[in-house]
Amino acid sequence: MAFSTHVITLTLLAILVSMSSAQLSPTFYATTCPNLQTIVRNAMTQVINSNPRMGASILRLFFHDCFVNGCDASILLDDTATFTGEKNALPNQNSALGYEVIDSIKSQVEASCNGTVSCADILALAARDGVFLLRGRSWNVPLGRRDARTASQTAANNELPSPFADLSTLISMFAAKGLNAQEMTVLSGAHSIGQAQCFTFRTRIYNETNIDPRFATTRRANCPATGGNTNLAPLDIQTANQLDNNYFQNLVALRGLLHSDQVLFNNGSQDALVQNYSLNNGRFVADFAAAMVKMGNISPLTGTQGEIRMNCSRIN
Ligand code: HEM
Ligand SMILES: *[C@@H]1O[C@H](CO)[C@@H](O)[C@H](O)[C@H]1NC(C)=O
Ligand SMILES: *[C@@H]1O[C@H](CO)[C@@H](O)[C@H](O)[C@H]1NC(C)=O
Ligand SMILES: *[C@@H]1O[C@H](CO)[C@@H](O)[C@H](O)[C@H]1NC(C)=O
Ligand SMILES: *[C@@H]1O[C@H](CO)[C@@H](O)[C@H](O)[C@H]1NC(C)=O
Ligand SMILES: *[C@@H]1O[C@H](CO)[C@@H](O)[C@H](O)[C@H]1NC(C)=O
Repeated sequence: MAFSTHVITLTLLAILVSMSSAQLSPTFYATTCPNLQTIVRNAMTQVINSNPRMGASILRLFFHDCFVNGCDASILLDDTATFTGEKNALPNQNSALGYEVIDSIKSQVEASCNGTVSCADILALAARDGVFLLRGRSWNVPLGRRDARTASQTAANNELPSPFADLSTLISMFAAKGLNAQEMTVLSGAHSIGQAQCFTFRTRIYNETNIDPRFATTRRANCPATGGNTNLAPLDIQTANQLDNNYFQNLVALRGLLHSDQVLFNNGSQDALVQNYSLNNGRFVADFAAAMVKMGNISPLTGTQGEIRMNCSRIN
């Protein structure tokens, strides 16, 4: 009796200790992989020099990772005969890009500190560097995430927002991940970089009325009413390769590309905030960085949970 009480007390203690270590920290790899940040930054610099869009693609990968069972690199797992991952979920299939960039950075990190750094942390750092290299602001990335041994195609289909979503749906989908409406709006500023396919904005440019008619005409030129589904357009008509507040200026001018963009400025609760960001880039980049840290903190695996994957595309 005394013995088992003791065991239970120790077990409880161990659980408490592992919970209190469930804290990410920017210095997590300071001694175990001191070159980590340099490796990721150099790799991202090379990638973005040859293809600036990749900074946007990696940022989106991180968002799609964090919103599906937390920031655990589940999105990076390949499907196999016996395993269904997230790469073929509707929001990702033929749309999410940059997996090979993370795989390549992982190989470089393994060469320097094998078996130490998670794919989830590499993705978090690469996303930050993409933003920084596309003229956004840098921030310290809390680290110490571990990699999932599971993935959920169903959660990826259900928990990532649709470009056809209305404001109340966006607010509640972000709230379900612990992010408030302000954080939802500032994170949507990620659409200041990158590209979208015609089928994601066709209804908006042909059938919506809260749109600048000249902007609609411009976008219709490469997005026909039928066909051309995969034709690309920049999410930000002004500066597609710069993370800045032009996205919010576009919204105020009724030049949001996606329906889900323009609902942030459509006589609703986010109008004043959008207006503020449109006038104050400094405030936007500061709030964006803070919200990215918060998004990166969604349900990480820590301590002895999960694993440190050897290869980001498959579990060990
Ligand atoms: C608010 C709800 C959101 C919706 C409905 C949404 C939807 C979309 C859609 C439909 C695309 C185009 C995909 C394609 O055509 O293949 C896209 C692109 C993108 N999204 Fe979002 N998104 C949202 C929020 C976010 C957030 C929070 C981030 C990051 C913090 C983000 C980052 C990006 C980036 C960077 C791209 C361009 C990717 C590239 O060029 O490869 N999005 N998004
Ligand atoms: C790391 O590399 C060393 C030397 O090659 C090897 O002995 C060790 O097993 C590796 N560790 C992991 C976790 O792969
Ligand atoms: C626009 O709306 C009309 C009428 O509802 C519909 O027939 C048409 O398919 C829509 N077009 C697009 C591109 O969404
Ligand atoms: C908001 O409401 C006003 C007044 O009804 C209207 O003129 C305007 O077009 C609406 N839309 C936006 C995006 O402000
Ligand atoms: C917008 O900025 C003004 C002036 O700086 C401030 O008073 C207001 O609270 C801000 N509104 C929002 C929603 O951020
Ligand atoms: C990682 O795993 C994937 C999927 O099994 C495989 O195709 C790839 O070659 C592996 N990469 C390395 C560097 O071993």
